[in-house]
Amino acid sequence: MKKIVIAIDGYSACGKSSTAKQVAARLGYTFIDSGAMYRAVTLFLLNNDVNLEDAEQVENHLDQLEIKFDGDSILLNGDNVDTAIRTKPVNENVSIVSAISSVRRKMVNQQQSIGKDKGVVMDGRDIGTVVFPDAELKVFMTAEMSIRAKRRQKELLEKGIEETLESIERNLEERDEVDSTREDSPLMKADDALEIDTTHITLEEQITQIEQLAKEKINED
Ligand code: CDP
Repeated sequence: MKKIVIAIDGYSACGKSSTAKQVAARLGYTFIDSGAMYRAVTLFLLNNDVNLEDAEQVENHLDQLEIKFDGDSILLNGDNVDTAIRTKPVNENVSIVSAISSVRRKMVNQQQSIGKDKGVVMDGRDIGTVVFPDAELKVFMTAEMSIRAKRRQKELLEKGIEETLESIERNLEERDEVDSTREDSPLMKADDALEIDTTHITLEEQITQIEQLAKEKINED
C-alpha cells in the first residue's frame, strides 16, 4: 500500500503530539514529536551551562549531542529524557534555542532522514513548510488559549509535574510569540494545510478526522 507523510503543525498545546501519536499507531506509521527533539537540545545546552544567547557557543556544542527515539521515548546521548524535557527550565528556554539556525539545521536533517521512506506522522511548527513541504497531508491545529492551558496542566500532572494555569498560559503565549516571529522557519500555516480548531472537539474526534483524511490520501492514485 502507498505510504504518505503526514505533517501536523500548530501552536503550543493544541494536542498535536497526542493526535499524531494515535494517528500513527492506527496507520502503523512512525510517530515523531519534533518538539521533543528541540526540547532535548535545550536540556543538553542547559545541563552544559552553554550561553543560549551565544549562537557560536551553541553551534560548537551540537556535535556532542545525539538524539534518538526508542519507541515513544526520547534518548539524549543514550539517556531517557521523557520527563526532564517537560520541566519549566526547558519550557522557558526552548523557543530561544529553536530560533538558532544551526540547531534547526541539525534537527531538520535528522527529521528528513527519518521520513525519507514515508510512513511517518511528524508534529511541530515547520513540518509542512520546511521539513516536508511535499507532505501528502498537512494539518494546522489551533485552539483557544484557556483550553490549551488546561489540557497542558492535565498532561503535566500525569507526568508528576505541578504548574499553575497562569504560569502555563504565560509560557504558551511567550513561545507562540517567539516561534511565530523568528526569522528562521517561523511557525505558520502552509498554504495547502487544512486548519483544524480543536477547541470544541475531543481528542478522539481529532484523531478520527485526521485518520480519515490520511486514508483518503493513501487510497488516492
Ligand atoms: O508540546 P508543545 O506544543 O508545548 O511544544 P513542543 O511541540 O514540544 O515544542 C517545543 C518548542 O520547540 C516550540 O515552542 C518551538 O520553539 C520548538 N519547535 C520548533 O521550533 N520546531 C518544531 N518543528 C517543533 C518545535
